[in-house]
Amino acid sequence: MAATASVERASALEPYDGVRPDAAWREEVLRLAERRNAVILAHNYQLPEIQDIAHHTGDSLALSRIAAESDADTIVFCGVHFMAETAKILSPDRTVLIPDERAGCSLADSITAEQLRAWKAEHPGAVVVSYVNTTAEVKAETDICCTSSNAVDVVRSIPADREVLFCPDQFLGAHVKRETGRENLHIWAGECHVHAGINGPELAEKAAANPDADLFIHPECGCATSALYLAGEGTVPQDKVKILSTGDMVKAARDTHARTVLVATEVGMLHQLRRAAPEIDFRAVNDRAACRYMKMITPAALLRALREGRDEVHVAPDVAERARGAVRRMIAIGQPGGGE
Ligand code: 13P
Ligand code: SF4
Repeated sequence: MAATASVERASALEPYDGVRPDAAWREEVLRLAERRNAVILAHNYQLPEIQDIAHHTGDSLALSRIAAESDADTIVFCGVHFMAETAKILSPDRTVLIPDERAGCSLADSITAEQLRAWKAEHPGAVVVSYVNTTAEVKAETDICCTSSNAVDVVRSIPADREVLFCPDQFLGAHVKRETGRENLHIWAGECHVHAGINGPELAEKAAANPDADLFIHPECGCATSALYLAGEGTVPQDKVKILSTGDMVKAARDTHARTVLVATEVGMLHQLRRAAPEIDFRAVNDRAACRYMKMITPAALLRALREGRDEVHVAPDVAERARGAVRRMIAIGQPGGGE
């Protein structure tokens, strides 16, 4: 069906459907974006056609920075809801659209503002570091946000004698604790259902079958600890195990001499990696690791967003005001993040 066909209404969590990503669709999306003076941002886990049409594709840190600096009237965030909310917190005067507001995140759902307030009450004086994969209400209770790309730098920026509450991802928290050697870091027991499902035995099996491969592992993965264990016991050479944010995976793909790379993260990542280094054989550690929320941003949903100005993202001004400091601290700390 061409881009001029009507966009079919989705029910329950069925994505909007009925539009093929053909040349007419691409032309229409770009024409409507120009008419709205809109910038289209896409996360590395988006469908390939969405990544390809976006003005910028990258990891959550890079996209937050691009959103903050953009002078477009409208930001169309092709990602999940907390990402679009973060853009709105940083740019309250701009219109922020997410093509399907039902695109949630199981990790962001693993802690509420009320739970965080109760945890803070148990640790008076602790510094709260929240992963960007949290709701605006949780960010409003946070001192510094972080992404997988700068979590270690963010925690290192906090005086060593201060207690730190790190939420909500337990695997990223374990990675930060390992890297910083910090004993006074308390970790919330949340997880992303997609990354938690990429497990150690699966990784060990794939690594044994591909002994010369590099291992690119997102720190949210259940297998991150196993990967370091494999390196520690010599099953995989230490320099082949790389714990990376999605943006840093793209940079590492350009730099590696390996001919095969095993990738432990959401499968949308493979598209950017293959674009960055077409000569490398990138293989998913778990090819069922697809985030259904990320995949709700379909060609039909993007067209609907640009035609109808939906779904508009709103964050209550008082919540945004309280969250803004933590998000600004996040974008000020650490390396640039990966995106272009
Ligand atoms: P990055 O910050 O590495 O882009 O990851 C975001 C995310 O949602 C991972 O599941
Ligand atoms: Fe959330 Fe996991 Fe999907 Fe990332 S992959 S958006 S953490 S549910």
